[in-house]
Amino acid sequence: MSFLAINGSPRGKVSNTHQLITYFTKAMSPSFYKIAHLKEFYNKNQYDALIEEMKTYESILIGFPLYADWTPGYVKELFEKMGERRAELAGKKYLYLIQCGFPESHHCRYVARYCARFTDRIGGVSIGSIVRGNSEGARLIPETFFKDSKILGELGRIFETETRLDQGLLEAIAKPEKLTKSGLTRIALMQKLPLGNGYWNSQLKKNGAFEKRFDKPYEE
Ligand SMILES: Cc1cc2nc3c(=O)[nH]c(=O)nc-3n(C[C@H](O)[C@H](O)[C@H](O)COP(=O)(O)O)c2cc1C
Repeated sequence: MSFLAINGSPRGKVSNTHQLITYFTKAMSPSFYKIAHLKEFYNKNQYDALIEEMKTYESILIGFPLYADWTPGYVKELFEKMGERRAELAGKKYLYLIQCGFPESHHCRYVARYCARFTDRIGGVSIGSIVRGNSEGARLIPETFFKDSKILGELGRIFETETRLDQGLLEAIAKPEKLTKSGLTRIALMQKLPLGNGYWNSQLKKNGAFEKRFDKPYEE
């Protein structure tokens, strides 16, 4: 077994990140990979144990959602631990799966650049980043209706045999990189429909924040 995929979502197993990693590893031979959930190591204060495990793999994927335009805090904490123990991890191959809620994958590009630089600074080999916007629904949409499940599966299949991420597939899964004017107009129109904000409004209500959705606490 030589590929470890780390799911860095604070939602653990029930996350979009885990779902996307599952698609990425779907076509791989089961003896080739293992999925680990960072949440479990964090809860038990066991990052050192995770580093020990990482040492036994040739390639490591770190997958995470964008939280406030950056990695979740404990993914950053893992990066710091990897930095401290970089000599033990030198020469490993790294790839990243970065996904976010906004439709434009462009939001993830800054952290993708950070990941490439980070890999370089810890003496790793950078394989690249899979970047995907509009991913909040990934864990809820059945696989047949989730078209990018096939692209992820194909990316994973090629990665297992050729240790690379296919550029054409990376570009396909990142669409839209940025919204066009007509795309923005379509979204503005959808927001006016009752269903347009249905999911987010239900989340706000669930958390008792619906009435406060237009608050501007820093304006006073
Ligand atoms: C606290 C928090 C902050 C977030 N910040 C961003 C953000 O800055 N940009 C973005 O596009 N999505 C943001 N999102 C949306 C998540 O990136 C998105 O829902 C993602 O699919 C969650 O993945 P997960 O289920 O693997 O945790 C945020 C979500 C939460 C809960």
